[in-house]
Amino acid sequence: MTNAYKIIDHTYDVIVVGAGGAGLRATLGMAAQGLSTACVTKVFPTRSHTVAAQGGMSASLGNMGEDHWTWHMYDTIKGSDWLGDQDAIEYMCREAVPAVVELEHFGVPFSRTEEGKIYQRPFGGMTTKFGEGPAAQRTCAAADRTGHAILHTLYQQSLKHGAEFYIEHFATDLIMDDGVCRGVVSIDLATGELHRFRAHQVVLATGGCGRTFFSATSAHTCTGDGNAMALRAGLPLQDMEFVQFHPTGIYGAGVLITEGVRGEGGYLTNSEGERFMERYAPNAKDLASRDVVSRSMTMEINAGRGVGPDSDHIFLNLQHLGSEVIEKRLPGISESARIFADVDVTKNPIPVIPTVHYNMGGIPTNYHGEVVTLKDGDPDSVVPGLMAIGEAACVSVHGANRLGSNSLLDIVVFGRAAAIRAAELVKPGTPHKPLKDNAMDPILGHLDGIRFNKGDTGTADIRDNMQRTMQKHAAVFRTGDSLAEGIDKMRVIVDSFDDVKVDDKNMIWNTDLIETLELENLLMQAQTIIHGAHNRPESRGAQARDDYPDRNDEEWMKHTLAWTDERANVTIDYRPVHMYTLSDECEVVPPKPRVY
Ligand code: FUM
Repeated sequence: MTNAYKIIDHTYDVIVVGAGGAGLRATLGMAAQGLSTACVTKVFPTRSHTVAAQGGMSASLGNMGEDHWTWHMYDTIKGSDWLGDQDAIEYMCREAVPAVVELEHFGVPFSRTEEGKIYQRPFGGMTTKFGEGPAAQRTCAAADRTGHAILHTLYQQSLKHGAEFYIEHFATDLIMDDGVCRGVVSIDLATGELHRFRAHQVVLATGGCGRTFFSATSAHTCTGDGNAMALRAGLPLQDMEFVQFHPTGIYGAGVLITEGVRGEGGYLTNSEGERFMERYAPNAKDLASRDVVSRSMTMEINAGRGVGPDSDHIFLNLQHLGSEVIEKRLPGISESARIFADVDVTKNPIPVIPTVHYNMGGIPTNYHGEVVTLKDGDPDSVVPGLMAIGEAACVSVHGANRLGSNSLLDIVVFGRAAAIRAAELVKPGTPHKPLKDNAMDPILGHLDGIRFNKGDTGTADIRDNMQRTMQKHAAVFRTGDSLAEGIDKMRVIVDSFDDVKVDDKNMIWNTDLIETLELENLLMQAQTIIHGAHNRPESRGAQARDDYPDRNDEEWMKHTLAWTDERANVTIDYRPVHMYTLSDECEVVPPKPRVY
C-alpha cells in the first residue's frame, strides 16, 4: 500500500454525501437543528440530477379537486404492486402535505391556479376514493421545471442555515468500525487530496445508478456511488432488480419528456395512428402507471406497430394542447424536443421510447432514514451511524414500481425525516472516538488497487460492454434464459475490470481515474440488478418476466437483499414486506389484481 496520500481531517456532527433534493433537505434540516453539518458532493449542488425532475411532486393538497392522503397511500401501494412497505408509504403520503407547504414557505416558485393556490396536475396511477373515483390532480408543479425550482431553493436554505459544502469531492468509502459507521473518505477532484470526515451520522444521498444501462434519462453522474460504498462496507442492497423504464424518453437521445405531458392531455399513438393505451388500460389509458405504459409501448413495437423507418418507437402527441398551454405548462420539454428531436411540439409528435429512469431499489432503510440490514435473523436491524435517503435508499415506498411525482416527494419527506432522526440521535459537539490504527487500510487498499492497476482495456470500453449487456438482458421484458445469458456476459465484463487501463501518468486523481472508480461502482450494482432479476421468478411492477407472467404473492411478496464480494459475486437473501401501518387513521391494503 502506498503512503502517497495527503489526508486532510475534518470533524462534524453529521455528514451528508450528495447534494440533490434529498441531500439538501437533510443538510438544511440538520444544520437548522444546531448540528454541525457538512455536505460532500461530486457536482456543484444545483447541478445535481434533481435539477432534471420535471413534472412535479405529489401531495394530496386538494387544490384542484377533492383529495385525501389515504387515497394517495392506496395508489402508492397499488403502484408498488404490493412490494412497498406500508408503514413507510403511510408516513410519506401523510407528511406530503406539510412537506409541500414547507417548500412553499422556503420559496419554491410553484405554478399557481387562478385563485393563487399551488397548481396540481394529474399523473399516472393517481386516483381518488381508493381507485374508485376519477383521476386525482395531485402533482404540485413549477411548470415542467419542478426539480430545478426545488433544488435551488433547498441550496439557498442550506446556506442560510450555515451548512458547509465540500464541492467536487468524490466520496469513495465509508469508515466502518465493528459494524458502526464512523465517517467517510472523499477525493478532492481539484487537488487529488484525500479528505477524512468523521461524523456521528453519515447520510448517503447519492442517487441512483441509471448509468448501468445504455439508454437512461439519468445524468452521466448517476453512478450510485453510495450504493457501492454500502456494498463495499459489507451491507446489502434491496430490490435492485426493480428498474423503472420511463415511457417517454426521447428516441435516440434518452432525454426525459415529462409524464406531465400526458397529465396535461397528451397521448401516445402507434404507426396506425391508434391511441393504443385504450386497449391496455381502459380506465387510466395514457395515465396508467409507468410499468404498464412502458410494457404496452414495447408490445406495440414488438407487434410491428412502432413508428419511424425501423418501426422501433412510438409517438407522443401534444399538438392539440395549443401553444398557450404548452408555453405556460410545458416550456422545458418544448425546448428539449426541439434540441434533441428537431420537433416543433405545436406541429408534430415527439418520437419516444421507454428509457431507464429510476431505481426502486437501493440501500434498505426504515422510515427514519436509518440503514437496516439482516443481522442475527433481525430484518430491521439498524446499522449505527449510517443513514440513506432518496434514490440511493430503498425505504421502501416505491416497491416494485414508483408512481411518477412520488420521487420528489420521497426526497423531501425522507430528507426531512433523516434530519429529525439525526437531531434525536446526536448531541451537538459530541467528541469522536479515536479510529483504530488500521481503520484506513481497506480504503487505501481499495484506492491503490484502482490507481496502480496496469492493464490494457479502456474504462469506456468496459462501461460500454456493461451498459449494452444490461440494456439487452435486463430490459422491459425479461426471461430466465436471457437473464442467465446476461449473467454470463456480466461475469466476463466484471473480470475484464482486472485489466482496466487508467491514465496514471501524472499520478493524480484525474477524470479517467474517477470514471474508473465510478465504473467499479456501476459494475457492482449491475450485478445486483441482473442476479436479483434472475432469482425472482415472477412478474411484479417493473420486473416483467415473460416466463413467469403472474405475480406470486404466496412466495415472492418479499424484498430481495443482495450482497457482493470483492469479485462482485452476488449473494441473495430476502426480508419481509412491512404489511402494517403506523396509525389507525388508515388500514393495510391487502394485495389484489392490479388493473388500471
Ligand atoms: O415524468 C416526469 O416528470 C418525471 C417525474 C418523476 O419521475 O417523478
